[in-house]
Amino acid sequence: MAHHALLAYSTTDGHTRQICERLKFFMTALGQQVTLVPLEQASALNLKQFERIVIGASIRYGHHQPQVAQFIARHQALLEGCASGFFSVNIVARKPHKSQPDSNPYLKKFLRQIIWKPQLLAVFAGKLNYPAYGWLDRQMIRLIMLITNGPTDPTMVVEFTDWAQVEAFAHAVCALPIVEAPGLAAAESPGLP
Ligand SMILES: Cc1cc2nc3c(=O)[nH]c(=O)nc-3n(C[C@H](O)[C@H](O)[C@H](O)COP(=O)(O)O)c2cc1C
Repeated sequence: MAHHALLAYSTTDGHTRQICERLKFFMTALGQQVTLVPLEQASALNLKQFERIVIGASIRYGHHQPQVAQFIARHQALLEGCASGFFSVNIVARKPHKSQPDSNPYLKKFLRQIIWKPQLLAVFAGKLNYPAYGWLDRQMIRLIMLITNGPTDPTMVVEFTDWAQVEAFAHAVCALPIVEAPGLAAAESPGLP
């Protein structure tokens, strides 16, 4: 039977979902059975059925959505007991010196706020879609881009995501060793009386 993985995402403009869809594509090609859901629907699932759980969340004005930390706190024990990963999507990560789990300020801060220690971490540079933003958001992001030497043309759509990095993360998720359920090892061990 194919192993079963959950990809749960928190998105505002859809790019984190798109990254998850790409992860699902690569993981499925590796023989993994994948369920992909928005994070708000994940609690309704029987989470114990998943051997691997990956959560992806985007940054907006400095923070992941509050529901991300809430979900993690609610399912802490379950997350600790399976093969797990977390990734953050933000525009700061387009800068090479802020693109790694130990150099991206948002991921570093987030990990200090939660107890869960995911086995795999990643940071993916996100997407700018000026035409899709409301006026205020567009001006705010243009200002931030001006300060940080990014694109400011309000007609531009720029995808900074490194899709090869996404593919590599899919491989790493599939390569995570499965955490055996307590009792299963003993039940399957032929040497026990
Ligand atoms: C209103 C708004 C605020 C944002 N704030 C930040 C921010 O504070 N830091 C950052 O690095 N990226 C920021 N971003 C960039 C997003 O993280 C990026 O566009 C990402 O791809 C969004 O993913 P999503 O479509 O899954 O929500 C912001 C984007 C928007 C539209």
